[in-house]
Amino acid sequence: MFKKLAIGAAFALALAPASTFAAGGGEQHIEDFDFSFEGPFGTYDQNQLQRGLQIYTEVCAACHGLKYVPLRTLSDPDGVGMPEDQVRAYAAGNFEVFDPELDDFRPAIPTDHFPANTAAGAPDLSLMAKARAGFHGPYGLGINQLVKGMGGAEYIASLLHGYTGHEKEEAGAVLYENTAFPGGWISMAPPLFDEQVEFADGHENTVEAMAQDVAAFLMWTAEPKMMGRKNAGFVGVIFLSVLSVLLYLVNKRLWAPHKGKIRKD
Ligand code: HEC
Repeated sequence: MFKKLAIGAAFALALAPASTFAAGGGEQHIEDFDFSFEGPFGTYDQNQLQRGLQIYTEVCAACHGLKYVPLRTLSDPDGVGMPEDQVRAYAAGNFEVFDPELDDFRPAIPTDHFPANTAAGAPDLSLMAKARAGFHGPYGLGINQLVKGMGGAEYIASLLHGYTGHEKEEAGAVLYENTAFPGGWISMAPPLFDEQVEFADGHENTVEAMAQDVAAFLMWTAEPKMMGRKNAGFVGVIFLSVLSVLLYLVNKRLWAPHKGKIRKD
């Protein structure tokens, strides 16, 4: 039995580095940003999500869709927290959707989803923050993931300001060197530049700041119920702790009459 376990463990160790190499050729550089939603009590920063939504709308939506995200969820109080009348105006003002009943396009309404967008061959971003990992290792053991989370938002923020400025042409496509992208070369041109988006409250709009804002927004699209999940987890832990104390006391009480007695027969 022990021998089998030992062989299994050795095998897993031998395979782990191989799988990390298989994920990409180049050395990835993922920065560890301090996001407000990290940790067991972390919550979304509503202002940051609103800035992220603005960046997505003005920049990323040109190429990327968010087809799994219903527009109405923008008014969720745990998320972007936009008032309902603004959601209506935002939907109608920014997106058109195809309505099979009308057999024509019409302005979007809150019950529609953000439209899909495949025109530029760009992947849908709804679940991207959950589909990418920022941290592996050390040695493929995943300890970083346990401590710091998967780091999908870190990956996206690092990707957006990980451009080195070098480009090359390969098989007719232009590739841009990026220190966060596995393999080191991505076909997305650097989408952000300093002062590209103007925020109503005059918030910082450097590439680095905007990269974090839009990454936080994409974390929310991928996990809109994160705050509810954390609350439920916290209540569950408290409940189970109280239950364990009670069970311990009940157990003591049940066995009290028999404790310390020696059977005579
Ligand atoms: C001009 C079109 C265009 C714009 C604008 C654009 N992207 Fe992209 N994006 C692409 C393409 C094309 C890919 C696929 C790249 C590849 O796989 O080489 C991509 C890929 C991605 C990926 C996936 C990388 C991966 O690990 O597979 C993310 C994340 C991303 N974009 C985020 C964004 C964000 C956030 C914005 C807005 C700030 C944005 N993009 C703006 C075209 C665009």
